[in-house]
Order: sequence, then structure tokens, then C-alpha cells
Amino acid sequence: MHADIAVLPGDGIGPDVTAAAVTVLRTLARRHGHSFDFHEYDIGGIAIDRHGEPLPQATLQGCQQAHAVLLGAVGGPKWSDPNAKVRPEQGLLALRKGLGLFANLRPVRPHPAALNASPIKPHLLTGVDIVVVRELTGGIYFGEKTRDARGASDLCSYSVTEIERVVRSAFKLARQRRSYLVSVDKANVLETSRLWRDVASRIGREEFPDVKLEHQLVDSMAMHLLAKPREYDVIVTENMFGDILTDEASMLAGSLGLLPSASLGDGKVGLYEPIHGSAPDIAGKGVANPYATILSCALLLRHSLGLHEEADCIERAVDAALNAQVFTNDLATGGRGVSTQVAAQAVIEQMQAHCYVAELRD
Ligand code: IPM
Ligand code: MN
Repeated sequence: MHADIAVLPGDGIGPDVTAAAVTVLRTLARRHGHSFDFHEYDIGGIAIDRHGEPLPQATLQGCQQAHAVLLGAVGGPKWSDPNAKVRPEQGLLALRKGLGLFANLRPVRPHPAALNASPIKPHLLTGVDIVVVRELTGGIYFGEKTRDARGASDLCSYSVTEIERVVRSAFKLARQRRSYLVSVDKANVLETSRLWRDVASRIGREEFPDVKLEHQLVDSMAMHLLAKPREYDVIVTENMFGDILTDEASMLAGSLGLLPSASLGDGKVGLYEPIHGSAPDIAGKGVANPYATILSCALLLRHSLGLHEEADCIERAVDAALNAQVFTNDLATGGRGVSTQVAAQAVIEQMQAHCYVAELRD
């Protein structure tokens, strides 16, 4: 098949990890007879430097016209002045909003070979397989912001429709898995959470009576996620709770460097990015972990291009590379990890051994 893929390397280690992932996708395309065209655009700090804004029109348009978007990371100390008028992060938020990507899927499946990299006891981690569905275009992130000499405020608001659509996508996903959904809120304090809880219960009752729904308060969820992660399957929550819980959940997998994400909306174009940030301290050194971005490519193949076998193939290859202990510094002990390129190359080699797709099909 043919696909146009917009690539937004962004800042920090973004260019390192997207370059590695594109190499993997190119190899996969060549072996399986697909033609992928990659179009690069600026976003974040580099876009501020080059164009004066974090999401130039050309970038948004390029993404809208693509079949899928692969993004590295945005932000860094250079653009972190609290008084700056524009910040790199605004580019990412505007892109999510501009593409209507309201559901952010963040799967967490600790890899057996990386259990030692996690600060959590290994016996709690075996068998953990969670997907967090984070609402991505509403809540406190996008509410009105005010600031004057006396104080500041961030408005948190949610419409019924915004809650319905993300909760519905979480229910659908739950139905394909263990038919168990946990909805996370702070309904003992927040009005938006009380609405969230009502809407989730109604959608469950009316449309997904076969899926078991539970409600959890976010503070106790933060605790249970570490105490008994195996219990959970699909978790759905609002924007900021999802941001925080998924960084926490990344520790189950041993490293932020292993977690991919997919951001989806009603349209076809999805945005795929590692959940880690721009890690400015190791940017450009060629040592960043590319696995999260490579795994994001698997999600891209599956959700935007419908190439399920190819997606499985990438995931199996990353699994195999980890089994072979091809670790970057974040996973290796004593900073003796391999380079970004060596890790990507290991995935490419493993693809040969672990892909059962009929080659050169159309
Ligand atoms: C993430 C990031 C972003 C967020 C930042 C960079 C705006 O932390 O994707 O989780 O908070 O959503
Ligand atoms: Mn985050």
C-alpha cells in the first residue's frame, strides 16, 4: 500500500528517535512491498526558532493531509523561560486539538527482560498488561487561563460530548480485551469528575452492559497502580490525570523509553509518539532509547494504515531485541548501553527472523 507519513522530529532527542524509527519503517516497507513517503515538518522549539511559532500552518496542513503523523518530542531549556510568550508544548497541544485527537492510548506491558530496570518488585510486574485511555483535547489543559499580579487560574471544563466520545472508545477497547474498564476521576471534589462519572455509568449501562465498569478516585488509583498493577486492563481518565498516571505507569515498564502512544480521533489521521519528553541532557548524543518511538510506529501501522501483521512484526522484533539484551543506557546497568542506532539496527535484524508476513504482497 501507499502511505504519506508526516514526521515531526521536534526537539531534544526527538530527531534521534524519529530518525531511528523511520529507518525501521523504511526497511519494513521495502521488505513488504509498501511505499511510504515521509514528509518532515517543524514543531515545538525548533519551529519557534525557525518560524516564530510552535505549530506553523505548513506543519498542521502537512499533518492533515498525511495518513499518519510520527512525532518525536518537544521542549527544552532553551525555550523554558516562564515569561516567554510562546512555548514548544503549545505546538503539540495545538496539533492534538487541530487534528481532533481526543483519545490517547498508552499501553503499558512490562517486558520480561526489562523487569530489573523497574523500581517495582518483579513479582508484581509479570503479566501486567494495561492500556490507559487518556482524554487529550479538553479539561484543564485547554480551559481559560488568567494571570495578574494577585494570582492565576486555569479553568477545568468538560462537555458531555467530550466525555462520551472518549469513554465510548475506552469501552470499545475494553470489549476487545478483558471487558473490564476502570474510570478514574476525583468525584469527591470536582464537579467535572461528577459529570464524568455519571456519563461513564450511563454509557456503560446503555451501550456496554457486557463490560464491567468500576470507578476509582485518582489518588487511590495512583497507589493501586503500583500495588496491584496486574488487576487492571483498560483505564480511562481525563487529560491531566492521564498525563500523570501514565508517567507513573511507565515505571512498571522499567523506563519511559519503552512506552509508545497513539492519539486518535474520529478522522483517519492519527498521531503517534513516545510518551517520553525531549531529554535535553542526552540530545544529539545518539544514546536515546528508540524503542518507544519504534513501538509507536507499530501502533501507526495498526491504527492508521490497517497493517496488522506488519505492526505485530515490529512488536515482536522489539521484544526479541530486548530478549537479546540490546539495552540503551536507560535499561542497562552502569551506563553501558548501546547507541540509538545499534538498538534500531537490532530491531531491523530481528524483523527478519520474526516476521511471518508474506513478503512483497500488495
Ligand atoms: C505528554 C507530555 C505533554 C502533555 C506535554 C509535553 C505538553 O507530557 O504527552 O504526556 O502534558 O500532554
Ligand atoms: Mn506527560
